[in-house]
Amino acid sequence: MESSGRRAREASPEGNPVLQTFRDLSRYVRRYPRAYGLGIALMVAFAFLSTFTPIVVGRAIDAFLSDRMTMTTVWGYIGAILAIGLTAASTMVIVRRSLLNASWEIQFDIRHDLFTHFTSLDPSYYDDHRVGDLMARLTADLNAVRMLVGVAVMMGTNTSLVLLFTLYRMFQLDAGLSLLTLGIVPFITFTFFFLLRVVHRRYERVQEQFSNVSAMAQENFSGIRVVKGFGIEDRELGSFERLNDEFIRRNLALTKVEGPLFPLMELMFGVTISVLLLVGGRLVLGLGGDLTIGQFSSFVFLFEGIQWPLIALGWIANILQRGTTSWHRLRAILDVPSRITDGPDTRADVRTLHGDIEFRDVSLSLGGRRVLDRVSFRLRAGEAIGITGRTGAGKTLVVKLITRLIDPDEGAVLIDGIDVRRIPVAVLRRRIGLVPQEPFLFGDTIAENIAYGIPESDDTEARERRVREVARLAQLEGDVDGFPLGFATPLGERGVTLSGGQRQRTAIARAIIRDPSVLIFDDALSAVDTQTEASILEGLRRVQQGRTTIVVAHRVSAFQHCDRVLLFDDGRLVESGTPEALLAKGGYYADIVRRQQLEEDLEATP
Ligand SMILES: Nc1ncnc2c1ncn2[C@@H]1O[C@H](COP(=O)(O)OP(=O)(O)OP(=O)(O)O)[C@@H](O)[C@H]1O
Ligand SMILES: [Mg+2]
Repeated sequence: MESSGRRAREASPEGNPVLQTFRDLSRYVRRYPRAYGLGIALMVAFAFLSTFTPIVVGRAIDAFLSDRMTMTTVWGYIGAILAIGLTAASTMVIVRRSLLNASWEIQFDIRHDLFTHFTSLDPSYYDDHRVGDLMARLTADLNAVRMLVGVAVMMGTNTSLVLLFTLYRMFQLDAGLSLLTLGIVPFITFTFFFLLRVVHRRYERVQEQFSNVSAMAQENFSGIRVVKGFGIEDRELGSFERLNDEFIRRNLALTKVEGPLFPLMELMFGVTISVLLLVGGRLVLGLGGDLTIGQFSSFVFLFEGIQWPLIALGWIANILQRGTTSWHRLRAILDVPSRITDGPDTRADVRTLHGDIEFRDVSLSLGGRRVLDRVSFRLRAGEAIGITGRTGAGKTLVVKLITRLIDPDEGAVLIDGIDVRRIPVAVLRRRIGLVPQEPFLFGDTIAENIAYGIPESDDTEARERRVREVARLAQLEGDVDGFPLGFATPLGERGVTLSGGQRQRTAIARAIIRDPSVLIFDDALSAVDTQTEASILEGLRRVQQGRTTIVVAHRVSAFQHCDRVLLFDDGRLVESGTPEALLAKGGYYADIVRRQQLEEDLEATP
């Protein structure tokens, strides 16, 4: 938290972080001129009214003392005080409503901007950032910013106005006494501000530990089968106890400063009142000034009235500080440019793809390592090719380059002779159907998961027919019809009710429903048996006329319908040719085939 805050500050060299935050946020605030205008105008009225009550009470006291008071005047005073109180209270209700509502709207606006930005960011961004951290920014940091534009603006304005009016009235009553108060007051506010900072820091450490405890519990829930399978419940319990102990320790540290906070404030106010009594009392007694008892009472009431605002100032300063840090953390996200977007060179005239794919001397380095080394090959539209190679050879990277989830460092990837960087991203993604290595299913029905990539349509019947059709192609229909709810079966957060093979086939159906020009299976048949694999490939062959198909697999049986196979090793394309030619060549591919044949034979032997 600390370090990322520092990073955020370094990322913004334009000067004072608080001023910059205000400049940034004013863009959002300006969208709600009525709420803020009305709020601030009413707060002026509130401050004027609320500081008027002590004066009225003081006048009443003086009237009592001078025997001028009758029951009628008493009622007059009571009426005035009630009227002031009522008006002040109702103005404050309106102020709170308009400003706090606006702050929720602003939070909504910022969240919308963030989410829009999240969806535009390159996928690689998510490799380098922890999801938990991003979630925290979307919740905790966004909340802190909302507090800044809502509570802090409201309380800050209100408190300053009340203080200003109070000081004005105090000086009207007695300048000397007012100067004395002015000398003590900053001291109180600063003490409170620093104490709150300590409280906040300790509170953050409590929160941090709370995250650790929850993360550990969550991991144990998700991994309960591993924990039980290995019989390590005791060890897990031990680590949990240690985390929990630390949690309590941090909580106690927090209470240690939080506990004395308000009593200490009371004490400081008590001391101030005593000093006022001493100095003011002398004035009332006629020693060095003339102040009526009523005026002195007004003064003390006025001081009482600013106790809370004084505390609030320290509190507001903290909200301001937190909001600023949080805003910088959010800005750090908003400032990340997405590289993979359409640019000035984009060929807007490209509306569709035929599926002729060429790699021209493509090299790529990731994490300081060369992961693809001068890869060149060409597939003609309509060809079916296989890609194989040891794990980590670079197969998924080749797929990512074609779909432009990543851009090459050197060389170029061309589709239909056009550099993919010049093809509109939307066209690229729409015309290429990718079944990723780790398919993700949404928490929705099977039908919706399959139909994910096609637009919503009014003709639900046609949509259902299409879903069923592609499910049949993916050899999924039989499985789904076996479920009581069929295609309407809801899936858990990560599709937990489906088996690995069923998930893969759902992802395949999702890819083919868009009828893409290029179909890519990244190890998408690994979790289905050889027989199902054969049926899927056979079925696809019938509908894939004119479609370029790329099958990434470890099992050579997946290549039986492929025109050619590319073999990768350590980021290099080492062999390529028809499966038969590769086999005849007696190289690495032939080696793999022999080994897999042997494994199959071994399995077949009882
Ligand atoms: N974002 C990344 N940052 C750093 N290294 C990466 C990144 N993505 C992939 N790599 C590395 O690139 C190499 C090739 O990865 P790739 O995912 O293409 O392997 P693969 O051939 O698909 O393997 P598998 O058969 O296990 O799926 C690996 O060594 C991997 O560690
Ligand atoms: Mg892979």
